[in-house]
Amino acid sequence: MVSYRTKVAERIRLPSRTERERNLAAAGYNLFNLAADDVYVDLLTDSGTGAMSQEQWAALHRGDESYAGSRSFERLEAAVRDVMGFPHVIPAHQGRGAENVLYGTLLEPGDVALNNTHFDTTRAHVANQGADPVDCPVADARDPEADAPFKGNFSIERAREVVAEVGADRVPLVILTITNNSAAGQPVSVANTRDAARFAEEIDATFVIDACRFAENAHFVTERESDYADATVAEIAREQLGCADALVMSGKKDGLSNVGGFVATDDERLAEACKQRAILYEGFPTYGGMAGRDMEAMAVGLREAVEEAYVAGRVDAVAQLGDLLTDAGVPIYEPVGGHAVYLDAAACLPHVPAAKFPGQALVCELYREGGVRGVELGSFAFPDTDRPELVRLAVPRRTYGRDHFQHVAETVAAVLDRREEVTGLRLATEPPVPEIRHFTAELEPVES
Ligand code: F0G
Repeated sequence: MVSYRTKVAERIRLPSRTERERNLAAAGYNLFNLAADDVYVDLLTDSGTGAMSQEQWAALHRGDESYAGSRSFERLEAAVRDVMGFPHVIPAHQGRGAENVLYGTLLEPGDVALNNTHFDTTRAHVANQGADPVDCPVADARDPEADAPFKGNFSIERAREVVAEVGADRVPLVILTITNNSAAGQPVSVANTRDAARFAEEIDATFVIDACRFAENAHFVTERESDYADATVAEIAREQLGCADALVMSGKKDGLSNVGGFVATDDERLAEACKQRAILYEGFPTYGGMAGRDMEAMAVGLREAVEEAYVAGRVDAVAQLGDLLTDAGVPIYEPVGGHAVYLDAAACLPHVPAAKFPGQALVCELYREGGVRGVELGSFAFPDTDRPELVRLAVPRRTYGRDHFQHVAETVAAVLDRREEVTGLRLATEPPVPEIRHFTAELEPVES
């Protein structure tokens, strides 16, 4: 049993209901526009919002800020090699920087990229290269009630259909996102990872793992994939990631750091090509947009992320929030994933049609009711796709405790008690890039 005690305290405050009402309207009913000080429990994301360990804070002092040949880069490189098994590391300022470097290197206009499910920045980067992002989730992934151990898996069957339709020469890239963030943080089995790697090889595509939450995924494998019941999280991580030709990583998740990311590969030629693009967009390849101290913190974080006690406690905290919500009668996506609990907004607000953004309406009500900030991942974030109407409550690592989770559960239950008052929203502004409109679009309430 491992836990944490608090060494640095940060005061948080629940604004009054009047203030919350005012903040909501001023934010254009888009919670990305709220000041963080006006949020009581911030479950917008688990990305870069966690608490670092004292070892990470200590490591910051070792930061070598040399432009070229930084010692801190060598330490990051060693951590990636030891924990993930890849010798070439191209650092980036965060995950999407790494996506730009890797996908900009691998994709041409007219190409098709396959993914179990593209996360929003991944989708946008693929589209930004003039390529077409196609999701291949398994059938269960979109069913919030289906009980299956690996609802994050990649559907080889669906991928074969796409290849039959467009031709293998148009598909140079197969991506596996573990855990599958846009499918409710569901894990991917090692067996499915092997199948996806074999499929990519068959069509001569590069097989990339988006490894953001690789340690959480490995924890689920120990619990749910019988072949790995006796394996450690560290062993599973090495084996699963080892199936890939390259990794794209946001260190803000299972790097347990506040910023940073990288591409890793064992393909020297790919590494060289990525470095050229990285110099243009990120920085010289021994810092790539990160300060030396941030590389130090991530190097320590990567090693901590695969410690059994850490990751078991992490996934358990998310499960705790899920249990509190279920006990309060809130419909959630099941089973609960690794980094977040996803509310089933269609079931929470059955009278609000997709055109009136039930997920976004729910997100606004959670703030109005209890100063809780979540994020919509449904028809507002993903226009023109048939994704389920979900609201994600992402849990920052080592940050909130049971009393906060209790407050969140009570808040959601209170909203559901007065659900008939919730009428839905419409867009008031339409940003130019539809794939990322949910970050900046403003909305307004509609009358019933
Ligand atoms: N890939 C996945 C699966 C992600 O979840 C994210 C970020 C990225 C790539 C991009 O990484 O933020 O470091 O640039 N997800 C965050 C989230 C933002 O809230 O889920 P980044």
